[in-house]
Amino acid sequence: QCDYESVCDYGYCYTIDEMFENMSPPLLIKNGTVVNEDSMFKADVLVSNGIIQEISSSIIALPEMEVIDATDRFVIPGGIDPHTHMQMPYMGEVTKDDFLKGTEAAVAGGTTMIIDFCCPDHRNGESLTDGYKKWRGWADPKVCCDYSLSVAITMWRPETAEQMAIITSPEYGVNSFKFYMAYEGTLMVHDDELYRGMQECAKLRALARVHAENGKVIKEREIDLLKQGVTGPEGHTQSRPEEIEAEATNRACVLASQANCPLYVVHVMTRGAAAAIAHHRAQGAIVFGEPIAAGLALDGSHYYDDDWLHAARYVMSPPLSRDPTTPELLMKLLAAGELHLTGTDNCTYDCRQKSLGKGNFTKIPNGINGVEDRMSVVWEKGVHSGIIDPMRYVSITSATAAKIFNIYPKKGRIAVGSDADIVVFNPNAYRTISKNTHHHNLDFNIFEGIKCHGVAEITISRGRIVWANGKLQTVPGSGKFVPLSINSPFVFASHEKREEKKKPKIVERLE
Ligand code: URP
Ligand code: ZN
Ligand code: ZN
Repeated sequence: QCDYESVCDYGYCYTIDEMFENMSPPLLIKNGTVVNEDSMFKADVLVSNGIIQEISSSIIALPEMEVIDATDRFVIPGGIDPHTHMQMPYMGEVTKDDFLKGTEAAVAGGTTMIIDFCCPDHRNGESLTDGYKKWRGWADPKVCCDYSLSVAITMWRPETAEQMAIITSPEYGVNSFKFYMAYEGTLMVHDDELYRGMQECAKLRALARVHAENGKVIKEREIDLLKQGVTGPEGHTQSRPEEIEAEATNRACVLASQANCPLYVVHVMTRGAAAAIAHHRAQGAIVFGEPIAAGLALDGSHYYDDDWLHAARYVMSPPLSRDPTTPELLMKLLAAGELHLTGTDNCTYDCRQKSLGKGNFTKIPNGINGVEDRMSVVWEKGVHSGIIDPMRYVSITSATAAKIFNIYPKKGRIAVGSDADIVVFNPNAYRTISKNTHHHNLDFNIFEGIKCHGVAEITISRGRIVWANGKLQTVPGSGKFVPLSINSPFVFASHEKREEKKKPKIVERLE
């Protein structure tokens, strides 16, 4: 029985996906060093039908195979970027990287899966599932690599809990929710809403993710700074001193602990925020911290640049740290296991959009690029500089994300049976990042001029080469939506025991 997504060939009906897979020859990656989060070994890797079929010391090449010579290269799991905002409508504008350009940029840099934030207009009554369908409608025809969605809750409404339950069902495949503690009046939730949301997450065994800043204090500081004549991008950083992020991170951890809810803190930008996470982990809390490529490579001196547009390009929240030692510190915390995985917060606004904030820094759209450069930036600042080894690199660029979001070892591991999302990575090659050569739909790059060792030479998504020889070979819509199931053991395996301990105590008294 044919459906509209099938093609008949001599009496056999292929789905469009099977057609793609049949069109790609088996790939044999020879002579490389396979790197997983816990091991490194020389091996050949055979891929067909989108899956890793064999890994062994020597696999004989057959005529139908396409052979890739990976001598002196690492063969690593494709990067998973757990934090992107493609095609996101916000502040009256839409981010420049849509799901096509954004995922093309991703694969050009060695990332084969993104977890994007779906932000339903819940404040104005849009249901979580309607928002989800809108995002799927934007993404499905365009994505060039696999993707999943994390759904933002921007207000607590009477129907929110029920909708959270629906969207975590297998039909929708969402296992995390994002809560903004900043952007007052648009995305921000208040503490009581956040607490209710966390309770609901814990009940559903879904992960709560927070953008941790004190939105109310920021609002007051913005008004004060504007009154004092601070209108340029330097006002953005001054409205958000580092302790504003640290305080909110600590508060999020406290609320999560009260709700017995595992927590994931997105874009950890500062020493204080990282310290708050470490403090709560030492108390036994389950908290994950995600620094981003920008925070690992750049500091906040850019906000004071004489050139208004240069400074505006770096406006994101929380801002880049003013302390020049922070990027290296964050990498050391990733090495030590105090922070856990890297994302990008890819949220691109071009020069025209940034210029909307001329004369009032609060109107500069917040966001930066990163999805294309994360793998190289993390290699340069982490492995090339000697702070982490290649296995930890795999852990913080793919494996830990796969575990947290419950898709390990299907993703995040080079293993028989895993998806063939693979990067042939050359640790000895280098590239200099530039807007002139990147694949973003963006007229600048915040990493402009940074020289990075570690280059993704070949990117394979579901067994198909999508990037090689400096050229994209992508097919819009060839990526798939990956449903994420709740109750990730990496996050929730101890949950029931913890629940028991937190049960309210009743003292039976004789009347
Ligand atoms: O400035 C940022 N981070 N923009 C994207 C939205 C968010 O806060 O994650
Ligand atoms: Zn954020
Ligand atoms: Zn973000």
